[in-house]
Amino acid sequence: MNIHIKTLILSNFRNYSYAHLEVDIRPVVLVGANGAGKTNILEAISLLTPGRGLRRASVSELDNLHNGKPWALHAEIEGLKGPANIGTGRECNGNDKRIVKIDEKTARSHTDLARIFSVLWLTPQMDTLFIEGNSERRKFLDRLVFSFDGAHATRVNAYESVMRERNRLLQMGQTDPVWLTALEKKMAEQGIAIAVARQNAAEQLNNAMNIPTHVFPKAHIVLSGAVEELLTQNSALATENGFRDSLKSSRAQDAAAGRALTGVHRTKIDVIHKEKNLPAEFCSTGEQKALLVSIVLAQAQAGALWHGNVPVMLLDEVATHLDGTRREALFTELQALGAQCWLTGTDHDVFEGLDAQVLAVDHGSIQAELFA
Ligand SMILES: Nc1ncnc2c1ncn2[C@@H]1O[C@H](COP(=O)(O)OP(=O)(O)O)[C@@H](O)[C@H]1O
Ligand SMILES: [Mg+2]
Repeated sequence: MNIHIKTLILSNFRNYSYAHLEVDIRPVVLVGANGAGKTNILEAISLLTPGRGLRRASVSELDNLHNGKPWALHAEIEGLKGPANIGTGRECNGNDKRIVKIDEKTARSHTDLARIFSVLWLTPQMDTLFIEGNSERRKFLDRLVFSFDGAHATRVNAYESVMRERNRLLQMGQTDPVWLTALEKKMAEQGIAIAVARQNAAEQLNNAMNIPTHVFPKAHIVLSGAVEELLTQNSALATENGFRDSLKSSRAQDAAAGRALTGVHRTKIDVIHKEKNLPAEFCSTGEQKALLVSIVLAQAQAGALWHGNVPVMLLDEVATHLDGTRREALFTELQALGAQCWLTGTDHDVFEGLDAQVLAVDHGSIQAELFA
């Protein structure tokens, strides 16, 4: 059975004081007026994975402003390794720090969540993903990789932390070759692992696009950068050495720039509309949205093929913006995937034809919607 949420409890989270949800593996539809608290629920679910969630909020922003108590979430899930409990929230001592507990034990890092749970999301804020800077697309891709490879989150964190350390040393004018060499070695090790994991994920995704039943436009993802370039011509080990050498020889430039000028933190991610052979940024707004849906669906497909598990999907206001044919196709695909997907909208007529659990959201309270 695919991974899914069974119980979700929100305490002092955004506009919720307390809410308790029990759901099964079928799609969940959240219906309610603007500002009711639908996206807040999706945000809560996104915080069951590493990172800052789908709004990238700071930890204290998530506290319910009206009572100022620290927020907490509790979920019972059917996870990648079977049933599990996840607890997360702001530390009670006033710190802006998120703590994570897995099966009642405090996790060393929130990245541990990627090993037991996997969630993908698509929100209206992502509509500009193809025209925005590349770093947004890289974060998007890295999140897709988490769902193939639970260790990826840990790697990205380790890479960034060692890179910051190197930047700091270089900026302080520190030239201790032993120290810098050790950091660059670590950066290269993690960097190659990141590049390889991304390449594998992009390949899986590009292949999943070819599944013939796919009615959404096919996207093709292309990764490029200095490390990727080295990888196409060399073994992973030779690439690692090459990357390490290039870090060593660019110390002076990096010191002057205040950051590392090459590496997998600068990988370029391009998305092509395959049928049109056109970069995604040249496509219409509607086409870009359809491409995003397509990528997320392909990712879910690829997850099913790769490790037999479809991630939980959060589709915020997605159904509303698709025409009838595409909406129907989306529902058919979601149902075929057997994913627990969470969809939001202001009107439940839009979800007709989807065998879903409908929940009515109103001013921070949630009720199962009863149909006559
Ligand atoms: N930290 C917070 N504390 C209390 N209320 C909040 C907080 N952050 C957002 N809200 C409220 O939550 C509501 C927005 O919820 P949201 O889930 O985005 O609505 P929608 O149902 O339209 O998706 C707004 O009314 C907003 O004022
Ligand atoms: Mg919303």
